[in-house]
Amino acid sequence: MSHQTVIILDFGGQYNQLIARRVRECGVYCEVRPYTTPLDALRAMDPIGIIFTGGPNSVYLETSPRVDPDIFTWGVPILGICYGCQLMAHTLGGRVVAATEDSAREYGKTETYFDTACRLFKGLPAQGITWMSHGDYMEKVPQGFALTARSGACPNVAIADEARGFYGVQYHPEVNHTQHGTDMIRNFLYEVCGAVGDWSMSGYKETAVRSLREKIGKGKVLLALSGGVDSSVAAALLAEAVGPQLTCVFVDHGLMRLGEGDEVEAAFSQWDISFVRSNAEELFLTKLAGVAEPEAKRKIIGEEFIRVFEAEAKKIGRVDYLVQGTIYPDVIESGAGDAAVIKSHHNVGGLPACVDFKEIVEPLRLLFKDEVRQLGRELALPEYLVSRQPFPGPGLAVRCIGEITKEKLDTLRLADFIFRDEIAKAGLEKTMDQYFAVLTNMRSVGVQGDGRTYDYTLALRSVTTTDFMTADWTRIPYEVLDRVSVRIVNEVPHINRIVYDITSKPPATIEWE
Ligand code: XMP
Repeated sequence: MSHQTVIILDFGGQYNQLIARRVRECGVYCEVRPYTTPLDALRAMDPIGIIFTGGPNSVYLETSPRVDPDIFTWGVPILGICYGCQLMAHTLGGRVVAATEDSAREYGKTETYFDTACRLFKGLPAQGITWMSHGDYMEKVPQGFALTARSGACPNVAIADEARGFYGVQYHPEVNHTQHGTDMIRNFLYEVCGAVGDWSMSGYKETAVRSLREKIGKGKVLLALSGGVDSSVAAALLAEAVGPQLTCVFVDHGLMRLGEGDEVEAAFSQWDISFVRSNAEELFLTKLAGVAEPEAKRKIIGEEFIRVFEAEAKKIGRVDYLVQGTIYPDVIESGAGDAAVIKSHHNVGGLPACVDFKEIVEPLRLLFKDEVRQLGRELALPEYLVSRQPFPGPGLAVRCIGEITKEKLDTLRLADFIFRDEIAKAGLEKTMDQYFAVLTNMRSVGVQGDGRTYDYTLALRSVTTTDFMTADWTRIPYEVLDRVSVRIVNEVPHINRIVYDITSKPPATIEWE
């Protein structure tokens, strides 16, 4: 399937991924490229439109990111967002200055008035809320541009040169707080760029299967399967493309949720592939014995995982291709500077070059998580695998605080199952993005029957988030929390107290370790 492409030119804005997701949601394929990409390379992508993202800089500074001015004579429609809008204005002869307190600096939800004759706002209400975050102001807009939206403080919230297909908005249409923001992006794509909406997962599946067959030929393929969404979908795709040549290795480290190992095995042993389940619980628990420090646990698990995987790979013999479940956010983010290490992530997608293979294949590297899920459905993966919430590589080890023992893990597994079961029964699964139980290392006094108990405190955690980089705790109804609490203390030995975690991220993280 050939498809139209839109380029998101990234000026370092915090919402670059969100813009790309919105464009894809509108049925149009797009890729994020750094603003430093040479014009020829952009031309070679033959885009139907370009979106300039926001960014932290001020266009009037010498050191600020720029574009090759020829981009404006090439004849491709451009939508500039925030910094992108100011950059367009600045480059085309307008004037951008720092906003003073009482003029046009704007932050947050802002009542905005639109000229619905402008193609960007076609068919939308003439008034609505937009999300602003800018300290600079377009004092003079370039020749040929009309003002097409205003706010109380600012007469030029949006500018348009309809003849050339250039649009600029000071606010962020990609953010949910902007009412009809996605519709504005859709208007740019369909009304201005002539998009036809040819990006779909069924089309993607066919193309991906075809190109995987061409690439792999008769080669042998190895895939590390965790049972998570990404590696499961990658496995299903490879199974469809080159099933008999594929071996999936599932390392069961004994840190999975209740029944999870068997579920993964049941799902994948039906495929026309060779599936290896390596039961390594004893090995992992032995290595983890007596270790309480979170980073130490993570390192041990990461290392052991690679050892077990390597040993299984050796049994299989020489493989030509190793498949990784890398997805697009990882690709976009890998360019980001050196942030502080909060937790060393163990990820099946991040296997080092430990096995003897010719090449790495990453069939999901251009897809967002929701697209990976859709692809999984196209490939007829069971819904419980496709819609499953993220689960960390080190598994329950990072939810069992302090030293890990089989008994503590079994306690946690059962409590976690009950929590998830009650959330499902209450029909709340879709209202939260990740929810689980944590076995704290704290014990307290309780009374059960007529006797004193001295047992563990269990914490329940649930968050709502779009990117897992920030998250809010979920307002679960009290009745549901009550049912969970009553069931757990009655059905799970050694838990006599339940607490609900009401911290957002930041300052907390989603997992406790
Ligand atoms: P935190 O706890 O850092 O988690 O707020 C953010 C998201 O990442 C998941 N997570 C992991 N995923 N390997 C993974 O594949 C890991 O080592 C890991 N640690 C945390 C976590 O579940 C949440 O979705």
